Amino acid sequence: MRLLVLGGTKNLGRHVVEAALADGHEVTLFNRGRTNPALFPSVRRIVGDRAAPEALATGEWDGVIDMSGFLVRDVALTAAVLRDRCEHYTYMSSIAVYADRITPGMTETAPLLPWPDGAPEDHFTMDLYGPSKVRNESLLTATFGDRAAAVRSGFVVGPYNPDFGNWGWALAHGLPMECAARPGQPVQYIDARDLAAFLLHLTTRRVPGPFNAVGPTHTLADLAAVWQTVVPDPKPVDWSPAVDRFHLPHDGSNDGTFQLDNTRALTAGLRLRPAAETARDYVAWVHDGNVPPEPAH
Ligand SMILES: NC(=O)c1ccc[n+]([C@@H]2O[C@H](COP(=O)([O-])OP(=O)(O)OC[C@H]3O[C@@H](n4cnc5c(N)ncnc54)[C@H](OP(=O)(O)O)[C@@H]3O)[C@@H](O)[C@H]2O)c1
Repeated sequence: MRLLVLGGTKNLGRHVVEAALADGHEVTLFNRGRTNPALFPSVRRIVGDRAAPEALATGEWDGVIDMSGFLVRDVALTAAVLRDRCEHYTYMSSIAVYADRITPGMTETAPLLPWPDGAPEDHFTMDLYGPSKVRNESLLTATFGDRAAAVRSGFVVGPYNPDFGNWGWALAHGLPMECAARPGQPVQYIDARDLAAFLLHLTTRRVPGPFNAVGPTHTLADLAAVWQTVVPDPKPVDWSPAVDRFHLPHDGSNDGTFQLDNTRALTAGLRLRPAAETARDYVAWVHDGNVPPEPAH
């Protein structure tokens, strides 16, 4: 299949590209050539900026996987350029789209965030992250109809992706795992490799619609206990660290965000590896000399 990956060279996108190449697809990358420019030297690369995507004005693709869509203006420009020249368009969205952060068990039909009155479409700020993902999903559906999929994830963990707090780093270095949150805090995450495989699966099988691409809900304490099993003699968890790497409210006001219903994604083909495998691979990746990146959004 001819696949166009918008992005593809930082944290999560590289797993998408690796999975696509491993499956024998013909991959083209579109990015500015700034982030890890030496990655995938044998893959065709179109250099350009999403703010002016004229470089995409020729060529045809069976599938597009959009990893770099933030600004509404830029996503609209790319959609217009690619509308008649690709079969399926899979957009990397976020669980930040939901208006409600408390109710457990939300499906993909739960109410989404509104666009704030007067907010700019051409200037990105973090408070516009969720509303921008909503607008982008909606404009892509308007453009591509049932040729569009949107994949909503939250914590993404795995090699080349942000650590879970400091957990992989701590276990690899004999330090305490830090948890600046309640032991009973619900959390959902997805391994970056499982997410990449799902993005590819939806694109190659041309599956439409939004999906909560998240794993099962754990309590933070239960998940920490699983991670601790992957090294001998782990240090006790530090529940009051000086640095808060999770940024989770302690009053439960974000608990629904991590108790999403993932049935639709599982039915569509999402496969989730065991938490211990993610932990073991992350620790091994740190042992190999890699340094986790800062949390992405
Ligand atoms: N990691 C998480 O926890 C998480 C959770 C939910 C959703 N997401 C979503 O995952 C996506 C990001 O993942 P990632 O950073 O790991 O993806 P990635 O595809 O590995 O990296 C981002 C890519 O976008 C390119 N890029 C950035 N700005 C660009 C521009 N203006 N024009 C053209 N290309 C541009 C970068 O290359 P150049 O710099 O060379 O242009 C890079 O290749 C986002 O959509 C994010 O919202 C992430």
